[in-house]
Formats: sequence, C-alpha cells, structure tokens
Amino acid sequence: MKTSVKFIMVVLGLLSATLSHAQRVVSVPTLTAYQQECSVCHFAYPPGLLPAAAWKNITDELPKHFATQVLLNSDTQSLLANWLQTNAINPDWVGTQIPPDNRITRADWWLQIHKPSKKLTAKVWKNPYVKSASNCAACHRAAPNGEYSAKTVLIPS
Ligand code: HEC
Ligand code: HEC
Repeated sequence: MKTSVKFIMVVLGLLSATLSHAQRVVSVPTLTAYQQECSVCHFAYPPGLLPAAAWKNITDELPKHFATQVLLNSDTQSLLANWLQTNAINPDWVGTQIPPDNRITRADWWLQIHKPSKKLTAKVWKNPYVKSASNCAACHRAAPNGEYSAKTVLIPS
C-alpha cells in the first residue's frame, strides 16, 4: 500500500474516533406517563440507553423492580412497554445486547467507560452524593437531557 493512502486511513481513523467520542448524546423523547411513573425514584432513563428487549423485561417485571416494587395499572404498563420499545433507538455505542439484570450499569460499554481509573476511584462511588452508579446525573449533570459527554463530566468531591 502506498504511504499516502496509509496516511489518509490513519487520519480518517483518528477523525472518526474523535467524532464518536464527541457524540455521546442520546435522544430524549418525552411521554407524560413515562415522566410521571418512571422519574419518581430516579430520573427517567433515556430509552436509547437500553435495547428494546431489555425494556420489555423491565416493564414485564415491574412488580419486582430491582430492590423495590412498581405497581401500574395494565393500560399504563402496556403504554410504557410499547413506548419504551419503540423509542429504544440505541446509539451505536449502546448496541443491542441485553445487559445482565437489564441494567445500563451492567452493560459492557458502560463498565468499559467507567472502569477504575485515577478519576473514578472506589471512593467516588461511595460518595453519599453519588449513592449509586445508576445515579448518572450525579456526575453527568445534563443526563436527563441525554448528554453524557466526557467533557462535561463533573465528579462530586
Ligand atoms: C419505587 C421506586 C421506583 C420507581 C417508581 C421506578 N424505579 Fe426504576 N429503579 C428503582 C431502583 C431502586 C433501582 C435500582 C437503583 C440502584 O441500583 O441504585 C431502579 C433501577 C432502574 C433501572 C436500571 C438502572 C441501572 O442501574 O442501569 C432502570 C432501567 C429502571 N429502573 C427503569 C424504570 C422504569 C422504566 C420505571 C417506570 C416504569 C421505573 N424504573 C420506576 C426504583 C424505581
Ligand atoms: C461517579 C460519576 C459517574 C456516574 C454516576 C456515571 N458516570 Fe458516566 N462517566 C463518568 C466519567 C468520569 C466519564 C469520563 C470517562 C473518561 O474520561 O473516559 C464518564 C463517561 C461516560 C460516557 C462516555 C462519554 C464520552 O464522551 O465518551 C457515557 C456515555 C456515560 N458516562 C454514561 C453514563 C450513564 C448512562 C450513567 C448512569 C447509568 C453514568 N454514566 C454514570 C462518571 C460517571
């Protein structure tokens, strides 16, 4: 291969890596019932952060929702189930694999990004302001708007 061709390929590779890094944004469609029912205990996770099949599991299992219980009438339950699955338009970094426990925080992509580092020490996760990895907005202030860029992360001290 000619050196100039190789050079162009390297430049293109770097460019796309930069772009994908800058585009950690997920769309946030709104549905009143979703805001009402699913932002009581945590913020309403953008549907694009989990594949449709994981949302189906979550809405099927609401009476046993992680450590708690979410009781909805069957109309609301099916409204949310359909809406979440229809709107689960995942950015490429989320992929289509169902993570263990249907948790965003147990997906390979999530664990890879948040693995222990100088910034993300064990102490950070124990900070009472963070409380749980599921509390995205503790560090990504604009999480409810679908914005998760590394540039705007603020780790609470
Ligand atoms: C009664 C409180 C409550 C309500 C209401 C509630 N949740 Fe949850 N949810 C929880 C708890 C507790 C967790 C576990 C959080 C943790 O581990 O810190 C959780 C976790 C989740 C997670 C996984 C987050 C992760 O760790 O990746 C998803 C997704 C989720 N909820 C979706 C929903 C949806 C959809 C609804 C509305 C139908 C809903 N929740 C309503 C309490 C609730
Ligand atoms: C304790 C703080 C903290 C919490 C809580 C947290 N994150 Fe992060 N997140 C970070 C840090 C720090 C980075 C930047 C890592 C780096 O610099 O490579 C990051 C990076 C990301 C990125 C990649 C951003 C980019 O520009 O490449 C995504 C996407 C993301 N987080 C999603 C989430 C989601 C979704 C949740 C909740 C389910 C969450 N995070 C919870 C600290 C956190």
